[in-house]
Amino acid sequence: MSNLMEKIVSLAKRRGFVFQSSEIYGGVEGLWDLGPLGALMKQNLRDFWIKRFILEEENIVLIEGTCLMHPKVWEASGHLEHFTDPLVECKNCHFRFRADHMADGRFVGQGKAKEKNQCPNCGAKEFTPPRMFNLMFKTFLGSVEDKSHQTYLRPETAQSMFTNFQNVLNSTRLKIPFGIAQIGRSFRNEITTGDFTFRSREFDIAEIEYFVEPGQDEKYFEIWLDKWEKFFLDLGLKKENLRRYEHPKESLAHYSKRTVDIEYKFPFGWAELAGVANRTDFDLRQHSKFSGQDLSYYDEAKKRKYYPFVIEPTMGLERAILAILCDAYQEIKGGRTKTTKATKEVEILLKLDKKIAPIKIAVLPLVRNKSELVKKTKEVYQMLKPHFVCQYDELGSIGRRYRRMDEVGTIFCLTCDFQTLEDDTLTIRDRDTMKQERVKIEDLVKVLKEKLEAQKLFVKIRNS
Ligand code: GAP
Repeated sequence: MSNLMEKIVSLAKRRGFVFQSSEIYGGVEGLWDLGPLGALMKQNLRDFWIKRFILEEENIVLIEGTCLMHPKVWEASGHLEHFTDPLVECKNCHFRFRADHMADGRFVGQGKAKEKNQCPNCGAKEFTPPRMFNLMFKTFLGSVEDKSHQTYLRPETAQSMFTNFQNVLNSTRLKIPFGIAQIGRSFRNEITTGDFTFRSREFDIAEIEYFVEPGQDEKYFEIWLDKWEKFFLDLGLKKENLRRYEHPKESLAHYSKRTVDIEYKFPFGWAELAGVANRTDFDLRQHSKFSGQDLSYYDEAKKRKYYPFVIEPTMGLERAILAILCDAYQEIKGGRTKTTKATKEVEILLKLDKKIAPIKIAVLPLVRNKSELVKKTKEVYQMLKPHFVCQYDELGSIGRRYRRMDEVGTIFCLTCDFQTLEDDTLTIRDRDTMKQERVKIEDLVKVLKEKLEAQKLFVKIRNS
């Protein structure tokens, strides 16, 4: 589909999934706000991740660490030294770019860049030699703004799971293998942002640090890679749009023995959606060394002490939402309705998975100029609200309202019509098949719960 990215950006703004941060002031590059539907969608994604990895797994616990940490954390973790990208500056206009992005032709076709290593801003071809730029945002703890009070906004959530390793062990009595998990804000001062929310400067990461006995790490890596990939398939992403990318040894992060990305086929090409890394015992050893606290583990069964190895499945939530939107977006020329005259316009259908769709149910009166019908429909809406995320809508023709709901992925549209006033039934329209069935209002909650549950079974069967 041509211009898919532009279409997603437009839909996201028009329907309230994603807005540019501080837009009334001209916006800020790489910062995005989630609108009403985006925020709900992200909550659904969080819930599914927690259900799958905290509630359904036996030995993974959730924590919530702070975004600001002791500055020594970043020294020990290696972020101060290694969390850098090569930066070049245009000698003519002084705009700055990532040297590797400039060299791989990412800017070709943008602004004045017609070829690799050409500035998209002014077209000049001369740059300063690359220098390493640290991506962590600096800030100060307390009112004194000097070096000794300087710290950083965390660029990943992982570190508080390492610094709390003993606290978690002592408070839970978990035994290896076990995991500590976290979802939280992360900050990266990306040199070049772009591709909508794909490369942002502030985003949420969901990651698990899974601690295993040394020697068992390679086995658990494979296990987690499979689980992680299955998670994305169960989110409804199409199999043909996912693939694995094995990082060559020379491009591994300083802590990693092996990293495999799960890539998604974004409209701009294959790119990292999520990853699994074997972080070895690097972090626990480093924090033991820098803090002077022993973060090793005593294996009672084996009567031996060791630093556990760590397998880390990770993803950025906003990036996952972008992939989900791209995957779900469909256009139907002339529309899907055959009962009325096909219009020339394009109908948009967002085929979101039931777990992820921000609105599950729309409650609609057939017409809005019949007060009895409107009253009845609002009663149904109030009845359903405690059970499902619902929306009431009475504006425009019923066909137009169905289309508005299809465009944001609403699973079911319930319509109260004249028959409703006679026999207390209404129609349930399925987003994907557009089939309608008549149901008694008194049975609605049960019927809808069964319908929304039905897909969970399907997902399990499909992937088992
Ligand atoms: N703790 C490991 C870690 O942080 P990472 O690959 O640097 O690994 C984790 O980041 C995930 O965060 C990525 O798989 C990606 O989904 C997401 N991510 C990374 N940089 C991002 C950015 N600038 N904007 C949005 N998401 C990003």
